[in-house]
Amino acid sequence: MNILRALRAIFSDRLAMIERLGREIPRIGRVDYGRVSMVLVNSPELIPEVLIERADDFVKGPVLRVISRPVFGDGLLTSEGELHRQRRRLVAPALAHQRMARYADVMREHTSALADSWRGGETFDIVETMMRLTLGIVCRTLFDVDIPNEAEAIGKDITLAQTWAMRQIRVPFLRLPMGKSRAALARLNETVYGFIRERRSRGGDTGDLLSMLLLARDEDTGQHLDDLAVRDEAMTLFLAGHETTAVATAWSWYLLARHPWYFDRLRAEGLPFALQILKESMRLFPPAYVIARSVLRDTEIGGFPVRKDELVIVAQWLLHRDARFFPDPLRFDPDRFLPEREALIPRNAYIPFGGGRRICIGNHFALTEGQIILNTIARRFTMELVSQRPPEFQPLITLRPKDGIRVRLQAVGQP
Ligand code: HEM
Repeated sequence: MNILRALRAIFSDRLAMIERLGREIPRIGRVDYGRVSMVLVNSPELIPEVLIERADDFVKGPVLRVISRPVFGDGLLTSEGELHRQRRRLVAPALAHQRMARYADVMREHTSALADSWRGGETFDIVETMMRLTLGIVCRTLFDVDIPNEAEAIGKDITLAQTWAMRQIRVPFLRLPMGKSRAALARLNETVYGFIRERRSRGGDTGDLLSMLLLARDEDTGQHLDDLAVRDEAMTLFLAGHETTAVATAWSWYLLARHPWYFDRLRAEGLPFALQILKESMRLFPPAYVIARSVLRDTEIGGFPVRKDELVIVAQWLLHRDARFFPDPLRFDPDRFLPEREALIPRNAYIPFGGGRRICIGNHFALTEGQIILNTIARRFTMELVSQRPPEFQPLITLRPKDGIRVRLQAVGQP
């Protein structure tokens, strides 16, 4: 439990705390919380030691390993060792670069349908709206199901299931009852098991992720994955596959609304500029803002000794906003990601998708999807912020804006 106590200190006001540490620790250093200590790795050249060279000395941090367990089970995000290696090999083809052209059609269709339903002058919460959109896309691409009627209820259940995890993070030494989150999780399970049942009864291979999971056999035993294993992978991709991209696109709309002249450039330049916006938005507001690891055995990082059971933190929130790597770091400047300028960014100073063998398996998917969403919508609408007050952060597992972001639509070409 002690390591969780350290987390409580970090997570009660996470961003302020992380920033304070960043000022005190420019390269690598330790902070002690009673018997537990945390090592911040705040220099890009050390990051490969954690994520690649000494990856065997670390496992995922306690938030993913312990607190997220009821939701993700032994899925890709949370499993370790040989199990992780096997599952990663199994899932990777469904998210490989070559698959994206096929998924892109679905992404365009869903985004266009959403834009068809909009009228100039309307106001709504763009975070919520992006969640529904990316949820629909992930269901169609990975599970070959459409969920237009359930999307709202599923979205609510996902938020409810997370509220337990959020409360639990704040009081790690108590075991909180799951309350309403339990029922929400049960309904989410029922949804995912429903996908599995439906596919088993339909039979055959539709070529999507669910087919791949159901048809896969263990290399040694020749056994199929059981329903629980399929459920864990499916739930992981179902959740990890939409919330992060929704958050990234929502922050992109926020930044565009604050710098509206970029809407014209986006319309003129299309997908390449959409990618620049998305990348710059993930620099300023990285949806995954820290990577945490627990230390499995005594080791070192850049000559700095690190002890078993310590917590190691790499913070995108610090690296991406560090003036050593990004001049005038708080300025929104999508041209930092012009290909020739992007090539000059120091290696590992920009790591929205992590790195090494646990690098985000959905990174091509997310970049393709984010670009298409920005490009498709910006052709038809611009957005302005309903309130000029900057949104507060809600740094949970992803960096969400606390009360959403309300925007007002303007149809392109209309006053
Ligand atoms: C902008 C969107 C996204 C961001 C910023 C993001 C970020 C990340 C990061 C930083 C990690 C590594 C975490 C760690 O090392 O502790 C990760 C892992 C993962 N992501 Fe993403 N992700 C995004 C989209 C997606 C999508 C679209 C999917 C699936 C379709 C996905 C599925 C996963 C999975 C399964 C893992 C675990 C991989 C493993 O450990 O082998 N992510 N993501």
